[in-house]
Amino acid sequence: MLFKGSKSFPVPIAHGTFNRYLYSLRLQPQDLTSKRVADCGCGNGVFVIDCLKNNITTFAYGIDDDLMASKAREAYRNHFVRGTFQDTLPWGQLDYIFFVSSLFYQEFNKRNFVKMIDKLSKQLKPTGEIRIYPLEYITKNTGDRTLYPLVIRSLKSRRYNFKLIPIETNFLKNGLRATELLIIRPKG
Ligand SMILES: C[S@@+](CC[C@H](N)C(=O)[O-])C[C@H]1O[C@@H](n2cnc3c(N)ncnc32)[C@H](O)[C@@H]1O
Repeated sequence: MLFKGSKSFPVPIAHGTFNRYLYSLRLQPQDLTSKRVADCGCGNGVFVIDCLKNNITTFAYGIDDDLMASKAREAYRNHFVRGTFQDTLPWGQLDYIFFVSSLFYQEFNKRNFVKMIDKLSKQLKPTGEIRIYPLEYITKNTGDRTLYPLVIRSLKSRRYNFKLIPIETNFLKNGLRATELLIIRPKG
């Protein structure tokens, strides 16, 4: 079943990790062909493994500070690093750095968020980009805390171009939650 109104992204979210990533990151498999990709907060590593298994790219890597031993990952263990993505990534010249459900507001203030983006952007190709999903914006202050204001304030004054792409909208009791994909590109 196709997503209503979406011809270019007919990927039901329930169809596994790989499709969930593509849907959330607004990418098609061909966008990743032979690209250098790092998945920050890769969890069980399924997205990275699927990129490799399906010969989409040979350069897919994952980092997670809670990387558990996994049979599925055994054959690809050189593609994974246990560590925090606030540290310098061990891979350079990246086309894409992804965060999918792995950035949490509790970990960040303006200073360390900007520091992390500055560091990550040094690991990108000049044409590379960072994609972060989700960024949530809540219209009424319902007590929810999100990364949204911090991220927008931090990036506006910096040397980054950034774009927000709406992915989902949910109606709350007294407001609205917009879930967006954030794409960050260092200015040339
Ligand atoms: C909700 S899971 C999402 C996993 C995967 N991205 C997915 O969507 O299936 C969040 C992951 O981010 C990792 N994580 C959170 N903060 C991190 C950090 N600062 N450095 C590295 N990994 C982190 C957690 O260990 C966890 O595996």
